[in-house]
Amino acid sequence: MDSEHEVKKMGALGLLAMDVPEEYKGAELDYLAYSIAVEEISRGCASTGVIMSVNNSLYLGPILKFGSEEQKHQWISPFTSGDKIGCFALSEPGNGSDAGAASTMARLEGSEWVLNGTKAWITNAWDASAVVVFATTDKSQKHKGISAFLVPMPTPGLSLGKKEDKLGIRASSTANLIFEDCRIPQANLLGQQGMGFKIAMQTLDSGRIGIASQALGIAQGALDCAVDYAEKRMSFGSPISKLQAIQFKLADMALALESARLLTWRAAMLKDNGKPYTKEAAMAKLAASEAATAISHQAIQILGGMGYVTEMPAERHYRDARITEIYEGTSEIQRLVIAGQLLKAYRG
Ligand code: CAA
Repeated sequence: MDSEHEVKKMGALGLLAMDVPEEYKGAELDYLAYSIAVEEISRGCASTGVIMSVNNSLYLGPILKFGSEEQKHQWISPFTSGDKIGCFALSEPGNGSDAGAASTMARLEGSEWVLNGTKAWITNAWDASAVVVFATTDKSQKHKGISAFLVPMPTPGLSLGKKEDKLGIRASSTANLIFEDCRIPQANLLGQQGMGFKIAMQTLDSGRIGIASQALGIAQGALDCAVDYAEKRMSFGSPISKLQAIQFKLADMALALESARLLTWRAAMLKDNGKPYTKEAAMAKLAASEAATAISHQAIQILGGMGYVTEMPAERHYRDARITEIYEGTSEIQRLVIAGQLLKAYRG
């Protein structure tokens, strides 16, 4: 894989299992530390940031929260050092935002689950050694019929689609997972049967803190690049950082970035303190991803032509920022989650 070396280094530093207890070979830190680490990694490389975020939040997270003791030892400990990473399969070609409409099926045959269907846009797909996959065990129950399963990779009956050719985060792999009579032991059910949708939603609450942090890193990288250029680039007889037009842009960029960072750290601290944080994680993800899009756009404006070519990192930040408004719930979905929580609180 393109980022194999970086993954191994992150594993050695404890960055791949940050809030996992030492008992399962994790770093036993908290989500605030995780947020800061994802931001710093993403400031350098947003692809490495998402690989890290998916392993921590989307793969290890639900197993830590909903797995049995045996499952934790089997599916967490080998995925903390960078030797193996995991992925998370919820979306399908026919449904993304409407996560409850999963059509991938799981039926129990003797002592095995048999999985059929296709999962789409799976981050880490080509590099993963296991997947937390969501499939419906009872279609008539809609979202209450969805269950979560642990599937080793590779395994018979599971094949990978082509590696997607993406606008940004190009060093992370994204592909479909195709299940065709894929058989796994009955014991690989994660949590209770029918609990899958709640597992997915709670996992995404945490994941959104990770993606918010990734977006902060991209935004900080773009701001760093814009300030450095503005201090060096001479125009009208002085560095362009002396121009009010540039200063106003830098001020707005810093404001958006620091506001989003505070929202992200608040969500992380609520989680660390065992408080509800669904709304706050959605706010953090929305604010940070929109800040990353806006800041990387303005960074290119400050760099002018130099922002548009690959010699400088500004165009990469611009391309990388875009996905943060799409995956782990689009900006529109974050607004729905925020409004839903807000109205619930008002109605009491
Ligand atoms: N925590 C716990 N339970 C939750 C919850 C949460 N955050 N959100 C919803 N639920 C529960 C509700 O309480 C409700 O429970 P009951 O059935 O017991 O009443 C149930 O789930 C259904 O809730 P809703 O009616 O609100 O569900 P909905 O069908 O209207 O969907 C949604 C809500 C917010 C739109 C949801 O579908 C969603 O988040 N969609 C976006 C999906 C998404 O983020 N996908 C990302 C894919 S992964 C990815 O992108 C990874 C990557 O590549 C990096």
